[in-house]
Amino acid sequence: MRKKLIAGNWKMNKTANETKEFFEELKKYDLNKDVNMVICPPFSSLDRAVNAAKDIGVAIGAQNMSDQESGAFTGEISANMLLDLGVEYVILGHSERREIFNEQDGYINSKVRYAIEKNLIPILCIGETLEEREADGHFDKVKSQIEKDFENISAEDAIKVIIAYEPIWAIGTGKTATAKDASEMCHFIREEIKKMYNDEVANNISILYGGSVKPANVNELMNAPDIDGALVGGASLKAEDYSKLVNF
Ligand code: 13P
Repeated sequence: MRKKLIAGNWKMNKTANETKEFFEELKKYDLNKDVNMVICPPFSSLDRAVNAAKDIGVAIGAQNMSDQESGAFTGEISANMLLDLGVEYVILGHSERREIFNEQDGYINSKVRYAIEKNLIPILCIGETLEEREADGHFDKVKSQIEKDFENISAEDAIKVIIAYEPIWAIGTGKTATAKDASEMCHFIREEIKKMYNDEVANNISILYGGSVKPANVNELMNAPDIDGALVGGASLKAEDYSKLVNF
């Protein structure tokens, strides 16, 4: 049985002090213990977040990571630096990294493989643009991303990856995919994983939905088949809203 996961991606929001305040407030709410909770703050807040989140059972993730061990890579953050702070998850291949920073599938694949090697749990983001969906190309796009981003990853390692299906047209736009559309794509992703690997990987891998998830729509999405959780941007920034998401 796959456990639900509610992950918050804070993007470039909140200072270290604001992060501490968030967790102080979150402590006041009763949180659903049957759900895995993850918050991914900016790098500069990770240390504060790990310490503040410990006693409420929230794990911390980074929003990106280098695929290199160490060295002359100005501005980059390594897996060892994250592990040393107590970070457990890392978002990779977010559409904002792909679109704004021109990250390609080959590079994202290299980061996913490196995260697994280092025992960080990758949250791999995939999803189509509005143009691709309108041209009926959404399944092809997602299939191609899965094939490229899972290249040279064994079945034993693939099962450790968390996939987040985030249609780009639904991110930060207030336009959520319907539970039916989100569920249909998460099912398609599971079938593709089955073809690439086997039943065991397909049945156990977690597939999240992301894109304008909020307290008002989280329940319907979480009850749809094949959706194992949510990757949430805007609505994860307020402790009260995040507690509502977790208690869907
Ligand atoms: P919103 O929830 O703000 O649409 O962002 C989704 C997202 O990009 C999470 O990674």
